[in-house]
Amino acid sequence: MTDSIAAALAAVRERVGGRGLSAYVLTFGCQQNEADSEKLRGMALDMGYSLCDAPDSADLILVNTCAIREHAELRALSIIGGYKHVREKNPNAVIGVCGCMAAEEHRADELRHRYPYVSFTLAPGELHLLPERVLSALSGRRTVVSADPTAYPPPAEGLPVVRTGGHRAWVSIMYGCNNFCTYCIVPYVRGREQSRPAEAIIAEVRALIESGVKDITLLGQNVNSYRAEIDFATLLRRLSEIPGEYLLRFMTSHPKDVPESLVRAIGECEHIAPHFHLPLQSGSNEILRRMNRRYTAERYLETVEALRASRPGIALTSDIIVGFPGETDADFEATLDILRRVRFDMIYSFIYSPRKGTPAASYPDAVPAEVAHERMNRLLALQDGLSRDAAQLYLGAECRVLVDTPSKDGREGIMSGRTDSGKLVHFTAKNTETGRFALVRIERAEAFALYGSEI
Ligand code: 5AD
Ligand code: SF4
Repeated sequence: MTDSIAAALAAVRERVGGRGLSAYVLTFGCQQNEADSEKLRGMALDMGYSLCDAPDSADLILVNTCAIREHAELRALSIIGGYKHVREKNPNAVIGVCGCMAAEEHRADELRHRYPYVSFTLAPGELHLLPERVLSALSGRRTVVSADPTAYPPPAEGLPVVRTGGHRAWVSIMYGCNNFCTYCIVPYVRGREQSRPAEAIIAEVRALIESGVKDITLLGQNVNSYRAEIDFATLLRRLSEIPGEYLLRFMTSHPKDVPESLVRAIGECEHIAPHFHLPLQSGSNEILRRMNRRYTAERYLETVEALRASRPGIALTSDIIVGFPGETDADFEATLDILRRVRFDMIYSFIYSPRKGTPAASYPDAVPAEVAHERMNRLLALQDGLSRDAAQLYLGAECRVLVDTPSKDGREGIMSGRTDSGKLVHFTAKNTETGRFALVRIERAEAFALYGSEI
């Protein structure tokens, strides 16, 4: 395979006057997609492409798409539409559509018929097939097909990866989802849960820490149901035994399975970041039932209490869907009520977007768009105040901050970073070195950022 690709790329190079070939990767969606894109880049580099950051001059364009809401799909399609001109300028360019949209049958059909310059699709479970697809495309064959995610083999270990996060890194620990929340497309496009072997994860995390990475996020659609030789809580404990100065994060967790053992591990392992992202989706038990979430608001609150008892000061964040079919004013009030009770540090909120092929897409009682928008505004207004209140608790505190970049406002000596709990901090720094932990006294707190000085 490697030889045939090298030969095919050499032929293209000759056609384009001997210049080097470059690849451009554009990513939509979640961290899992970002992590997959790092592998797409790694494989492109391995094939002999260099990496570039603009599509106009690229010879291989990979769009790693997201299908979670319609908006994300439409944005990707519009950008893919624009690549028609890139292809006109460089007829040798190969364009591949990767990610969740590539696994949807109706989108693959649409790409096949309406985007003739797209050479191939590559569903999330097919990442390792990138070289094969590129080779086909270079030989003039199109592979624009939808994949059956339930037929995915265990994800390939050892794919090359180009990490772009500097001192922060993502490590996928499991793929797919078995939960079938009724609004969600993920189980249909990413297939069933498959956990990576624990030893492979531990070796990868150890190597990252030894190479100086300070902040590692373990990724999976539902990390709590990680199960290989060991369960998730045990995996966290094993990872925490690795010596060094680093933080472990993880996402996403499902509230239906936060076992006592996980709550205890979070309280006991200092390398685990004091932050838990626990998507609530709705505060109404009836809506939770219709979403097939398999927990109640009361049980969710118990989990929150257990986490706060185990790790005092832990930051809690969540996802909320507004305007799910059948959501009444009372259901929505129940969501506001639980937000007031939990006092999340931050939430990500979404207006429900029907996804073709999911059960909720055929529920008859859609919430009118104006009502959903109005509810969203009320939700944002409430959470804004709650986030502000949560941030005030940091005033005067001395926080460890992992330094990321010079502050975007361009002022000399101001750096940005994140506390262990994940809060964004802009601060007057003693030096401009990034990737180090600084101790910062917090002097001002707003809903989305803290401000202070290094001590
Ligand atoms: N519509 C709106 N939001 C959705 N999410 C998942 N599917 C949908 C949908 N169809 C949200 C959920 C999930 C987050 C990643 O995206 O809140 O937790
Ligand atoms: Fe989607 Fe639910 Fe699986 Fe999360 S747990 S990926 S929301 S089906």
